[in-house]
Amino acid sequence: MPGIVIVGAQWGDEGKGKVVDLLAAQADAIVRFQGGNNAGHTIVRDGETWKFHLIPSGILYPGLNCIIGNGVVVDPSVLQTEIDGLRRNGVDVSGLKISANAHIIMPYHIALDHSGEAKLGKLEIGTTKRGIGPCYADKAARLGIRVQDMLDEKILKKKIMAALVPKQLMLRPFERDPEWAPKLDLQQMTEDLLAYGHRLEQHIADTGTIAWNSLQDGKLVVFEGAQAALLDIDHGTYPFVTSSNPTAGAACTGSGIGPRAIDEVWGIAKAYCTRVGAGPFPTELHDDTGTRMRDAGHEYGTTTGRPRRCGWFDAVGLRYAARINTMSALAITKLDVLTGFDSIKVATRYRSTDEIDGATFDTFPYHQTVLHHAIGEYEELPGWSEDITECRSWSDLPQTARDYLDYIADVSGVPVVLAGVGPGREQIVWNNSAAEHTAFSPAAAAD
Ligand code: IMP
Repeated sequence: MPGIVIVGAQWGDEGKGKVVDLLAAQADAIVRFQGGNNAGHTIVRDGETWKFHLIPSGILYPGLNCIIGNGVVVDPSVLQTEIDGLRRNGVDVSGLKISANAHIIMPYHIALDHSGEAKLGKLEIGTTKRGIGPCYADKAARLGIRVQDMLDEKILKKKIMAALVPKQLMLRPFERDPEWAPKLDLQQMTEDLLAYGHRLEQHIADTGTIAWNSLQDGKLVVFEGAQAALLDIDHGTYPFVTSSNPTAGAACTGSGIGPRAIDEVWGIAKAYCTRVGAGPFPTELHDDTGTRMRDAGHEYGTTTGRPRRCGWFDAVGLRYAARINTMSALAITKLDVLTGFDSIKVATRYRSTDEIDGATFDTFPYHQTVLHHAIGEYEELPGWSEDITECRSWSDLPQTARDYLDYIADVSGVPVVLAGVGPGREQIVWNNSAAEHTAFSPAAAAD
């Protein structure tokens, strides 16, 4: 059994949690490798809805190793709340392991995220304001507080002290804002973290070794990405991106394993596109069709509740995401949301609205100005009107729905192994050819 990486192929919220939950049935470990509680994973199982921000999606399998890798940034209060909630609902959380090297989101990171956006004004990124960017900035500046620091009062206090001085200066103009300006009290922050450290200690571990041992034993390890390719800090629509690398390479650095341990990379894409926050979105719809998608797909953020921007499927973005991730398979989610559209559009290239001659682009433009003025040029495919939420095999799907999935595979050059036809765990259809593209066994999963 291999290492399989799951990554978002668009701008996030593609339904990665559902696919990870599915693969977890045959896995020995699930490893989250980047991001933090800016993410939100929703899993619907037996009619019950579970929402996670930090805890890996496999947690509903009792005893499964669910690892928060070193590349994740951890808000200990959010983590503790999620653990408490799961325990209250009778979920066994003994498999939860937290890397001692993961970085901690501090109160001043959250304050800096707010103040940073306030300072940008109209140019704001639209972050989730969870302190993600400032925490990764401190990690790079070597001023970060790590999970292991919560277990040593002396070291913890020293590190907070060193990190605090520049933050106090930066936050001074905002210190009277009652809504979010924190009291940056060294003693209080130290005590709070020591208390979290005490409660979380049983879960703190050398997580790289745990993942490595599973791989060495030939067991399946699933690396769970958060956010998505087009929000990648290096390869996304910078600066309208998150502060980590949600692409497959980071599965290695963010979990402590090497590239040769990865056998498959699955991209997860919605049957249409959404984006939250600011930044270019070439296929965005500002009309009734976009509103219809938002309503049908319940496109409101799991983390912030913000309405998501909606648009047609973007094959240019997908081809790019496929390349930078070396995707071996695609899972297309929320196909049912497109039911009832007379025709469905796919952007196969971009056209610049800024060029007199209307320059076109078959590949994702690296230049920000081009990207900001790009709009989609579309192929139009016939839609379907049948309810597909009860389909459980490829052949159950209407021919036009199958044609749409085949078209996506064709334009991206990546095989579609499964499609989601509703929020439930069982609401998926496997492509008949899936077994050619993955070591995961759909047949065994169905048993
Ligand atoms: P940050 O990650 O909170 O710094 O936000 C940076 C950008 O990434 C913003 O546009 C957010 O809306 C976006 N973003 C962060 N996490 C997610 C996610 O899980 N889904 C979708 N967008 C996200």
